[in-house]
Amino acid sequence: MSQTPLRLDGVPIIGNAHQAIKPLEFVEQCRDHSSPVVRATAGPKTLYVVLRPRLVKEVLTSHDGRYQKPEHIRYGIDNFDGDIDTSVTSRLRSAWGPVMSRDNIKAYSGRLMGLVDEFLARWDTGTARNVHEEFRELCLRLACEVLLDVESPLTSGQYSEMVDGFSQRFSPKNVAMVELLPDWALKLSDREYRQARLLLDTFLDDIHDEAQPTSGTVLSSLLDASKNPNSKVSESIARNEVGVLLVGAMEPLAVGLAIACHQIAARSDVQAKLYREARDVVEGTTATLSDIQELQYAEQVFREALRLHPPLYTMFRETKEHVSLGSYELEPDAQVWLPQWAIHRDPSNFDNPETYDPSRWDGEREHHPFAYFPFGGGPRHCPARRLSLMLAKLVLATLSLRYELAPAATDTLEVRPELALRPMTGVDIVFSAR
Ligand code: HEM
Repeated sequence: MSQTPLRLDGVPIIGNAHQAIKPLEFVEQCRDHSSPVVRATAGPKTLYVVLRPRLVKEVLTSHDGRYQKPEHIRYGIDNFDGDIDTSVTSRLRSAWGPVMSRDNIKAYSGRLMGLVDEFLARWDTGTARNVHEEFRELCLRLACEVLLDVESPLTSGQYSEMVDGFSQRFSPKNVAMVELLPDWALKLSDREYRQARLLLDTFLDDIHDEAQPTSGTVLSSLLDASKNPNSKVSESIARNEVGVLLVGAMEPLAVGLAIACHQIAARSDVQAKLYREARDVVEGTTATLSDIQELQYAEQVFREALRLHPPLYTMFRETKEHVSLGSYELEPDAQVWLPQWAIHRDPSNFDNPETYDPSRWDGEREHHPFAYFPFGGGPRHCPARRLSLMLAKLVLATLSLRYELAPAATDTLEVRPELALRPMTGVDIVFSAR
């Protein structure tokens, strides 16, 4: 028998839009109603918030063909001419697949380790550093030197400005405007975004003119796909994908690393255990690929940071048609939110969910596979999950061998939702040499 999702009371005309523009609080309120699916509205748009792991699994895996990514995601990137339909999406995925395979990661792991080694060596000690900005620079270099094999035409400052310009476009206020204003009006009012687009276009034009892509890189794989007449991956779509890599893909990694450092700095017990493991496993002061398997606590530290602060705090989908979800009926053309933020912090999924506790990942405790999904799931899960975990383990182990970390001012972390969760005042940490 079909069930009706719990309806949130709203106000005339705007419905629940005033609540939805504070999405972290909103999804927690929805969860606290204890209904597996909550129905709200934002102006004319219906919005379903899905709060049970088994239903998230259904949306992302067995029934993923019934949903698409919604308009505001396309608006945020806005970097290609034409729709990306499912056949193109699967071509793009097959372009990403080989680049992120175990063998390919192994092939470029030398460059990766060199990058981590050099990057972490230059930190002077005793002064506060905003590690969010620092990790953005690491991510720019990862994208350019390892994944694309091009020289960045942007400085790290310009890159950061570009990411900020795109990031604020995904702020809840702007996302709400997408439903209400025409495209031209949005673009006029969006100076930071226009500057960010100029920077991105400079980057893309430069690599288009200069790059001699090395085989096995994202760039060569995308260009191969764009040259294949059957692939439907046009040059503009390949260009868009490099833009997604530079902005949409790198920022969650920079945020995840910054938040993990924040937790390490705030918790001396976690820091001491991380250091002991790194000291026992690693020879010298730079972790290498051969240490990865044994750096289990470093992985737990990072996984737990992504549980409490999932950089992509919710995933968005849209119903293409009338859809049954479990025993619920969903309207066509409605937004569907799969909020990692609320599900990762649900006491029915994790004990003491608000506590940062890496040991919950020691393999002793069980949870539903979709109670924790920082990298999404199903056919469109993040292709860089393995690479991100590996890089995080190298960075965290190497860091802990070289430095002691302390919070610069306060050990509370306030975040706001944009393209990824954004630490509101940066993440300032003081490093002292060991
Ligand atoms: C901690 C770091 C990261 C997190 C938490 C993360 C999370 C995610 C999530 C949740 C999705 C699914 C979005 C959706 O289905 O709506 C996704 C997709 C994607 N990610 Fe990541 N990601 C991370 C790092 C990266 C990196 C480093 C790269 C590239 C090197 C990358 C490339 C991509 C791409 C290309 C997609 C789109 C896949 C598709 O639409 O088929 N991600 N990521």
